[in-house]
Amino acid sequence: MQKFTPADTAPLLIFGGPYSNLAATQAIKEISQQLDIPTGNILCTGDIVAYCASPQETTDVIHEWGISVVQGNCEESLGNDASDCGCGFDTGSSCDLLSAGWFNFAKPRVSADAKAWMASLPAHISFDWAGLTMHAIHGGLNSINQFIFASDTAEQTQQQADSGGDVIISGHCGIPFGRILTNGTWLNAGVIGMPANDGQPDTWYMLITPEADGRITASWHALQYDVQDSISKMHQAGLNTPYADALNTGYWPSTDILPPAEQSATGQPLSLSPLPLSPGIV
Ligand SMILES: [Fe+2]
Repeated sequence: MQKFTPADTAPLLIFGGPYSNLAATQAIKEISQQLDIPTGNILCTGDIVAYCASPQETTDVIHEWGISVVQGNCEESLGNDASDCGCGFDTGSSCDLLSAGWFNFAKPRVSADAKAWMASLPAHISFDWAGLTMHAIHGGLNSINQFIFASDTAEQTQQQADSGGDVIISGHCGIPFGRILTNGTWLNAGVIGMPANDGQPDTWYMLITPEADGRITASWHALQYDVQDSISKMHQAGLNTPYADALNTGYWPSTDILPPAEQSATGQPLSLSPLPLSPGIV
């Protein structure tokens, strides 16, 4: 079992969804170095491999970096030689057809060693940090491919209550958010490998920072990277899917999975305010 024991003298850097986007993955690693965040304080919420053109190279960067990684449905599927990405899309839906494109591209391009490593990744990483008990997961607490969005407040509350922790950190849904619940906080770090359907090419990551006065703050930040390089790699590889355009436009090719609130926010630039974190009941 992978242990995550970050130092509480430095921020946590948390991101999800590298999505085979090598340039974005290299960019977040450079950010960590610029911010002087130790490797032991960095966590990825899964889905290393997905839409873009560099599945093996992106996996190599993450694995060799030595950060902690929660298993995403993409790692679960590739690690277990499954026939699809495990997102659970309805058969024949546009999401289903789009995911088949990248999955069939990626599957033969990821080494057996990398797949074995993916299969070994933990579904949950629980840790105590700066007086807070945190649980990092990919989708939902009981389902790796559950999409939990900012508007799913009732579900979040129930799952948070079940966890007994102060903070849940999730990924999978592709849009970052933070919600203070009746009994804790739900954080989604966002994904670095694909924009957040907000009409902007930038992607997102999260920092959790111990402030000088003892407060702890979660904050979300836009990641700029060499978008054109990732688009070119997709075209060069023959991966001419709508996701190549999405990298540039910031609009998802399909919004089937989005609840009405997130549907209506399509194309609206994200602006997330920092969120104070507190232990226990807030
Ligand atoms: Fe996922």
